[in-house]
Amino acid sequence: MSQTATTTVAADAKRSDSVGDDFARVSATFSGNVDNPFPIYRERRANMPVMVGDIVTEFGSVTFTTMQKPRPVYTLFRYHDVMSVLKDAKNFSSGFLMETGMASFMDGFALTAMDGDAHRQARGLLQPCFAPDVLKNWRLNRIQPVIREEFVAPLVSRGKAELVADMALMFPIRVIYDLMGFPNEPESLSKFASAALRILGGISPDPEAKKAAMVAAKELYDSTLKIVQARRAAGLDGDDLISRLIRSSFEGSSLTDHQITMFTRMLLPAAAETTTRTFSTLMTLLLERPELLERIRADRSLISKAIDESVRYEPVATFKVREVQNDSVFQGIAIPKGSLLSLCVASANRDDEVFEDGDTFNIDRTTRMAFGFGFGPHMCVGLFIAKAEIEVALNAMLDMMPDLRFDPDYPRPVIRGIQLRGPEAVHVVWTPQ
Ligand code: HEM
Repeated sequence: MSQTATTTVAADAKRSDSVGDDFARVSATFSGNVDNPFPIYRERRANMPVMVGDIVTEFGSVTFTTMQKPRPVYTLFRYHDVMSVLKDAKNFSSGFLMETGMASFMDGFALTAMDGDAHRQARGLLQPCFAPDVLKNWRLNRIQPVIREEFVAPLVSRGKAELVADMALMFPIRVIYDLMGFPNEPESLSKFASAALRILGGISPDPEAKKAAMVAAKELYDSTLKIVQARRAAGLDGDDLISRLIRSSFEGSSLTDHQITMFTRMLLPAAAETTTRTFSTLMTLLLERPELLERIRADRSLISKAIDESVRYEPVATFKVREVQNDSVFQGIAIPKGSLLSLCVASANRDDEVFEDGDTFNIDRTTRMAFGFGFGPHMCVGLFIAKAEIEVALNAMLDMMPDLRFDPDYPRPVIRGIQLRGPEAVHVVWTPQ
């Protein structure tokens, strides 16, 4: 990967090359062969809002639809069509992902591949662990100190950085494992983070990648189980996620160590690289607009809007797939039961019918629901954690790095990727402090 340029002593200590390599492999798996698909999406929304086949395949990227037994596939491009599918998990289900999604490496336990009561129950158990008061404490006592003191402060005297390698790759990993209750041992964290990325990379037709994902999922289970056992032995008053799950109960019984391990492991592949890419994309969009960055520096209440607009305009997770449970009709086209729908979130998020001048990045636009964190019953469970991390990181940079701008010695970053979007490297400079 190209983000190897400069690293701080602190970042060196925390970053493992294998994490960088595994991250680059995941990017390559989902990158496809078109950097800017948005003009094509605009054309499809206007002229072919329901396409026979999966446009992801046409773009040369891996997709769930090609890994399924042969069956009809349709791509939907318009906002209201995508929304009506995402909100109706009964008629448009996710269970088929048990065969080919991450669940297939994790003993069938991943929220994204669950339907109905099993999904509701699993979310019901997890949701209180992410309640607003919990998040408030986590933000103050865990997220903020980790990001400000371990990642941003050590950079400020240097006056230059490559944001993906020096910050964005590792801070979501360091934060999420801390919130879960894992001890801060840099080598182990890198190992776990690599394993989580290999699980994600297993969503590929390559049998070697699948084998690596199976091994990684087993390793992650074994390591997580030991940590769960250690947290239980340490008593029940911790405010980390594992301690909270130990204290929680379901239908009158408490969760076993095995169940807690399954819950925790399932979160890890979802929690880090999404935040890495979202932060790097946001920084690219703001650095491309220096006046906007200065406006935000002066008024930090705009950060939240900037994140929301960035996730609308350039979502990291650009497609969702669902299985049709009953014969359906979209835009007059009959879609038979058993078909797969490839939902183009990146297109829906720019539909002018809902977002005026949808191809323009505008943090002042009227707030409307976009799908960068999903929508409906499967909406991202870690949304507020991810947003808190990104807010804290941007705030810290604006506090400690005056006149932050692109490094003129490097090419401008390009946000690319068909299924997982983000820049490979973001080189910046500022006046050293
Ligand atoms: C900026 C960072 C993130 C982005 C862009 C993101 C995006 C998404 C999206 C689009 C979905 C919907 C999946 C679907 O409909 O099939 C989702 C679900 C999920 N996310 Fe996130 N996510 C982020 C961070 C996190 C974090 C930090 C965690 C964990 C703490 C997390 C855990 C999950 C889980 C467990 C699900 C599955 C929910 C379900 O199926 O009920 N995510 N995420």
